[in-house]
Amino acid sequence: MPVVSFRLNGTGITVDYDDGMHLLEVLRESCGITTVKDGCAPEGVCGCCTVLLDGRPALSCLLAPSQVDGRTVTTLEGLPEAQRRVLGRAFVQQGAVQCGFCTPGVVTRSAHLLEKGLTNDRKRVERALAGHLCRCTGWTRMVDAIQAAGESRAPRSADSAGHCGIGAPSTRYRGLEHALGDKPYVADLRVEGMLHAAVVLSAHPRATVLRLDTASAEGMPGVVRVFTADHIPGQRHVGLIVPDWPIMVAVGETTRCVGDVLAVVVADQQYRARRAALEVVVEYRVLEPVTDPAAALDENAPSIHDGGNLLERCFYARGDVESALAGSAHVVEQRFTTQRIEHAFLEPEACLAVPSNDGLTVYSQGQGVHDDQRQIASVLAMNPDAVLVELVTNGGAFGGKEDLSIQAHAALAARLCEQPVRLVLTRTQSIRMHPKRHPLSLHYTVGADADGRLTAARVRIMGDTGAYASVGTKVLERAAGHCCGPYRVPNVDVDSSTVYTNNPPCGAMRGFGVPQTAFAIEGILDTIAERVGIDGYDIRDRNILEPGDYFTTGQRMDESCGIRQTLEAVRDRYKGARHAGIACGIKNTGIGNGMADIGRVLVRVLSGERLEIRTGYTEMGQGLHTILRQVVAHETGLDPETMDVITVSDPSVECGMTTASRATALGSVAARIAAEKLAAALEDHHLEQLESREFHGEYICDFTVAPGSDAPDPVTHLTFGYATQVVLLDDDGLIERVVAAHDVGCAINPLLCTGQIEGSVHMGLGYALSEDFPCSAGVPHSLRLADLGILSAASTPPVDVILIEVPDRVGGYGSKGVGEIGMVPTAAAVAGALHAFDGVRRTSLPMTDSPAARGLVPKSRRT
Ligand code: FES
Repeated sequence: MPVVSFRLNGTGITVDYDDGMHLLEVLRESCGITTVKDGCAPEGVCGCCTVLLDGRPALSCLLAPSQVDGRTVTTLEGLPEAQRRVLGRAFVQQGAVQCGFCTPGVVTRSAHLLEKGLTNDRKRVERALAGHLCRCTGWTRMVDAIQAAGESRAPRSADSAGHCGIGAPSTRYRGLEHALGDKPYVADLRVEGMLHAAVVLSAHPRATVLRLDTASAEGMPGVVRVFTADHIPGQRHVGLIVPDWPIMVAVGETTRCVGDVLAVVVADQQYRARRAALEVVVEYRVLEPVTDPAAALDENAPSIHDGGNLLERCFYARGDVESALAGSAHVVEQRFTTQRIEHAFLEPEACLAVPSNDGLTVYSQGQGVHDDQRQIASVLAMNPDAVLVELVTNGGAFGGKEDLSIQAHAALAARLCEQPVRLVLTRTQSIRMHPKRHPLSLHYTVGADADGRLTAARVRIMGDTGAYASVGTKVLERAAGHCCGPYRVPNVDVDSSTVYTNNPPCGAMRGFGVPQTAFAIEGILDTIAERVGIDGYDIRDRNILEPGDYFTTGQRMDESCGIRQTLEAVRDRYKGARHAGIACGIKNTGIGNGMADIGRVLVRVLSGERLEIRTGYTEMGQGLHTILRQVVAHETGLDPETMDVITVSDPSVECGMTTASRATALGSVAARIAAEKLAAALEDHHLEQLESREFHGEYICDFTVAPGSDAPDPVTHLTFGYATQVVLLDDDGLIERVVAAHDVGCAINPLLCTGQIEGSVHMGLGYALSEDFPCSAGVPHSLRLADLGILSAASTPPVDVILIEVPDRVGGYGSKGVGEIGMVPTAAAVAGALHAFDGVRRTSLPMTDSPAARGLVPKSRRT
């Protein structure tokens, strides 16, 4: 076994390692250094594994251990404490930490910039971050933080003491730990006797598995067991809505996508488990995949699942569309297409399962601890009560961690090995396995009167949901319901279809079908404006939803509808610009559509006058845990520093999935109710007298109705978020600035709220111009992060966020969803700006042919 000697954080060490390991693996697995994160190893693109090698930044996943022999390696743990404090506090105070997975790498590079005195020049800082990816923040605050640290503007404390109530820019809960890499993610957890698992994935999107030979893998060093479908004791199929997704495909069955799991290898080390997984021999009979959703509906197309390839259709109809179109002064018919994209959360999926006498504890990074619990229990044929799922705050999700990924595989291995098992996906496996954003084909026919007032819309939508249902039917429901945007359309006829193919599965992703339809309806509106002879502002001004108007689903808008306020807030920025695009957006908060939306929070008084706040909703960088502390502090007057927040599958806090921008709006209602009970108890008792007491808060919204309901006044969603964005181009056609006016109802925490919008716009710009995940014959062209087209710091324009607060009736303190709406209008506003610049109407995403996309599309994807 080879050996390497080097100085690590000031101490000389000698470590042995397996041939083929890179330095990151040696640091994490052999040296116990966890501030270096594995976001894409060994691709060297995300920057999460940055170290200082002889004082200069280097990516440890690109280094062979032998390359550091005799040299000095410094990780974030080894930086001078004063420097760590200055940087960490600056990042927290500037709101530059969201999920935090990228942050330790960025902070390590920042330490070098600080050391060299290179933080004054903003452009230079942005260029220095070229080797990093951040999917959450939109970069501005990161650069602000680095510059603040350089100017010694970093505060003495990371916490905003005294700023803890509703409306205060309270800093992130455990923010300093995140910034300095001290907050563990699942892949950082280690327990006594822990084994490691790795998955074997299908090589083909559609192939019958003829034979699985695990003998060679079982003979590899360190291998403990290899599991296949035959080892599953309970239900083999899982799914949030339709249980169609096999935990493992069995011999004799046919695969449906290249993310299907065929076997799980368990070994004493992660590296060995992954290496042995490559030795599992699979014999296939390869079949032609079904990859075109329209062709998949042909009666002669092979069925991917029993029951055919049409998963679901969703309809909305109101009025008489045919007559209204016939009587319209203007009729625009247009097809739009949007692309499949990858979430690219920086933390790949990971799970640690720890067996005990009476059950199993699972440490998950998923978006729904209770859904994880239910599905794991069904796979293992266990009582759900015997499976405790605890969330480990994850490194980003954006909807991509709603489905079960590898939690059941880790749990199965732990249960059958009777030892703790940790399973961490590599980046390429992560990209193969989890659902993407749906590519949609959208066919619109829209009428307007001579003044540009909309009269009717006929809309046909087809969504490729790939191999498994995931939440695809709900995505297409949202696409259908939001297809006319925040506009008054008296006659609608909408039909959307969700179709199975052998492409990678598609499911939830920020915006949930609505960024796609916004791109279409906003493009239609711009075309009508052109025909009428008015500008983009005036056409929207004439059609925008007002309280009392009907949304596409038939829901009547109430006084909380703040879309007009967002439109008027950007009027002068749009009207006064040379090359500008404008687009509006609406996005439901909460699932609605006939399903209950629930908020539950439990506040428990612990010894030492501390509080524990429990919820079922997930913290994934959006700041939910910070918000819940703020609410309890606001209502009780207690110090938030005495409060801890956890997400756990306790039945008393079951909330369902963290989805549809509902966690803050509903969680804050429940937290307020619980905190009010505690506050009442504190009127008669000191806190220490309440030790062990629990205060429960619950809010259940059960008044929404399903699409197509014939209820006389249907309420399909408990509330909505609203936005208008303006994109400004310079004289070269490059994006100069984005103005984003958002009605958030109540900015419970303006710092976090603004950060969510900035990050969403960053994602929306990539969606508009450069991001794509193309596949041919069901196989992705590339599994590399570098090929996705995510915007770098240097290519991200400034975003001016304008927060507008039109209070909601349901959301806590009047709040509405923020996380998804941020990117809903962005691509459409970019398209409008591009048309203003070069006169080309673009109907397909991403708009890689445009001047604004110059330099953004990865070389590998340029034709
Ligand atoms: Fe940068 Fe989440 S904070 S990836």
